[in-house]
Amino acid sequence: MAPSTTLSIFLFSLLLLSSLSNAQSPRKPKAFIFPINKDDTTNQYYTNIQIGSNSTSFNVVIDLGAKFAWFHDLNYFNAASSYRPILCGTQQCRIANGVGCIFCYLSPPVPGCTNNTCSDYALNPFTGTQVYSGLGQDVLRVYSTRGDQYRVNDFPFQFSLPVLRQGLSAATAGLIGLGRTRISLQARLASTFKIRQKFALCIPSSGNNNGNMIIGQGNYKTPFEEISKKLLTTPLIRNPVSTDMNEVIGNLTAEYFINVKSIRVGEKTLSLNKTLLSINKNTGAGGTSIRTVRPYTGLHRSIYTALINEFVKAAAAKNITRVSSVAPFGACFDSKTIASSKTGPQVPIIDFVLQSNSVYWRFYGSNSMVRVSDGVICLAFVDGETNLTGPSTSIVVGGHQLENYLLEFDVASSRLGFSSSLLLRDTSCSQFRAT
Ligand SMILES: *[C@@H]1O[C@H](CO)[C@@H](O)[C@H](O)[C@H]1NC(C)=O
Ligand SMILES: *[C@@H]1O[C@H](CO)[C@@H](O)[C@H](O)[C@H]1NC(C)=O
Ligand SMILES: *[C@@H]1O[C@H](CO)[C@@H](O)[C@H](O)[C@H]1NC(C)=O
Ligand SMILES: *[C@@H]1O[C@H](CO)[C@@H](O)[C@H](O)[C@H]1NC(C)=O
Ligand SMILES: *[C@@H]1O[C@H](CO)[C@@H](O)[C@H](O)[C@H]1NC(C)=O
Ligand SMILES: *[C@@H]1O[C@H](CO)[C@@H](O)[C@H](O)[C@H]1NC(C)=O
Repeated sequence: MAPSTTLSIFLFSLLLLSSLSNAQSPRKPKAFIFPINKDDTTNQYYTNIQIGSNSTSFNVVIDLGAKFAWFHDLNYFNAASSYRPILCGTQQCRIANGVGCIFCYLSPPVPGCTNNTCSDYALNPFTGTQVYSGLGQDVLRVYSTRGDQYRVNDFPFQFSLPVLRQGLSAATAGLIGLGRTRISLQARLASTFKIRQKFALCIPSSGNNNGNMIIGQGNYKTPFEEISKKLLTTPLIRNPVSTDMNEVIGNLTAEYFINVKSIRVGEKTLSLNKTLLSINKNTGAGGTSIRTVRPYTGLHRSIYTALINEFVKAAAAKNITRVSSVAPFGACFDSKTIASSKTGPQVPIIDFVLQSNSVYWRFYGSNSMVRVSDGVICLAFVDGETNLTGPSTSIVVGGHQLENYLLEFDVASSRLGFSSSLLLRDTSCSQFRAT
């Protein structure tokens, strides 16, 4: 055979090989999609995951501020042949930033009880219960926005104790974290598939409709692509002191904070103690965080009181009749005295003003009010004294105020993009899809 023929056969085989391997490995993904459901009984938002060699599927509560995933699911336990503990001293343990090492002996070892295992505290944000246990990893099956299936081979989580499930929606077996750690869901997807660490949340207002979460750089279906091009943005701030009492290493919080500079009701700016609005760099107190695991925005008592007083005054000016309060809410109204519109009951508008007077997050009636009974609706903000994440965060923006906005958490550039109420555009999170 002439040398040139050998060369072309060689080149041909190379071409053939490379086209074969292209055909076998799926397209490089740009973004992944996860459904978001709401449990109307608990007001918890959850998604579905498929994990392990048998792809056990169950629901997990979405926690924007949690460090990692944890769950207790017996179907997974019984089929978990592919579970591997994260051992102490390994690179994965450093990435997980576990606080210690546990030694648990069972023969054969089972998920949650393995020897020499990297461990951390898992927190149930509803009960405050924490479980210190080993971390493990298994294959997580995920779907790209184009519908292809991919595997994350070493997705980290804690297989936890049943006690940690108390207080979770009955539809769920655990929780998935989207916090600012290296082992949160979006951090693992970004690192595994070399995509941007960014996620879009569109949280539905009822269990009858799914919203979606899109992790990565996705293209959205009309009208969301246009909406996403006009988002206002604000810096995501990192509290230098953890709001989680067990976080000893590094002390940075996993939670997302934004800088709310003032609050307006109608045209009136509330007179607030400004110290409460910024984060104290030494104690971590103050500031504004965003949590999907709080049903309503909790406010430091002095902010709460100022908001209620001004709102009641502004409502009275619109001839809205106040009625007896219904706990935990501090201001309730006769809904027959309130007109309605596509953005919900026509009540005074509430603005969270961010870095400048022209950048604000506006809450119309659908986000500021909640119906508690026939004929009675209440201002859906609560006294945060008893329901704050950390001991002393001043404002914790909760789920009711996050529904039906397009929110883009660009962790890579530490910016939050947010739309105005989707109801203004005659759409809602139940329509949020990728192309
Ligand atoms: C897991 O999947 C394998 C292969 O499909 C099957 O043989 C096995 O019975 C499954 N185990 C459980 C506990 O479902
Ligand atoms: C547990 O792991 C430690 C550290 O690697 C080792 O010294 C010990 O022998 C192990 N114990 C058992 C029962 O395997
Ligand atoms: C964590 O916070 C504690 C208490 O504020 C402080 O003593 C410690 O030095 C901090 N650790 C790090 C690594 O920043
Ligand atoms: C404002 O809040 C800070 C932090 O809680 C507090 O130390 C200070 O006394 C407050 N100032 C006033 C005027 O109430
Ligand atoms: C409120 O009611 C008073 C008396 O009925 C009326 O004069 C006024 O125009 C009303 N205001 C609004 C904003 O509807
Ligand atoms: C506040 O927390 C308690 C439990 O600590 C819970 O029962 C209650 O529903 C919470 N209230 C709100 C408005 O989140």
